[in-house]
Amino acid sequence: MKIYLTMKDNIFLDVPVQYEKIAQATKEMKFNMASDLHTGSLLKTLVASKPSGRILELGTGTGLATSWIIAGMDDGTRLITVENNELLLDTARQTLRDSRVEFIMADGYEWIQNYSGEKFDLIFADAMPGKYDLFQETISLVKEGGFYVIDDMLSQPNWPEGHSEKVKRFITNLEKQKDITFTKLKWSTGIIVVTRIKK
Ligand SMILES: C[S@@+](CC[C@H](N)C(=O)[O-])C[C@H]1O[C@@H](n2cnc3c(N)ncnc32)[C@H](O)[C@@H]1O
Repeated sequence: MKIYLTMKDNIFLDVPVQYEKIAQATKEMKFNMASDLHTGSLLKTLVASKPSGRILELGTGTGLATSWIIAGMDDGTRLITVENNELLLDTARQTLRDSRVEFIMADGYEWIQNYSGEKFDLIFADAMPGKYDLFQETISLVKEGGFYVIDDMLSQPNWPEGHSEKVKRFITNLEKQKDITFTKLKWSTGIIVVTRIKK
């Protein structure tokens, strides 16, 4: 039987212009925790659903996912992106220069606990703080109807010993959380899209 593949999910016609330059720098820096194209594309689509939105990214890295987030932003949308490695953050900052974006060099643990500004329409939590640690504090920063997005939920070759258990525990806890609804996607590196709802 002939199978027709009607949908190819590895064709990206809208890769951000700065992406290649950042990908090259990422390779040179041997940074191996970068988000992939699928995740970036999904982020762009979700961000575009929040005109004049407030977006938070925890774990900028070299800015690959950031470039997709920016591509989904309209003029009124603002992004805060937090990273504790100056070298990585600098690559993102220099390549993505954008007045709508605040690049913050900080420890995510401290930043989350000290933040007292407006809540966010979308949080991409891509560092330990905000995902495996300080989850309650972080999800409470998402507006009702807002998104909380995480990737790397499927086994990755660079995971340290014991990380699978951490992921399983995280998902079990997510399943008990009352003020969210979510979808697990066995796609890309394993994505979970969470929407915050009224309890
Ligand atoms: C999975 S990578 C992020 C990749 C990025 N989203 C991208 O598209 O390339 C996680 C990032 O979180 C940063 N990080 C780790 N611990 C942190 C902390 N305590 N505070 C802030 N950033 C942290 C790491 O330096 C790393 O760049």
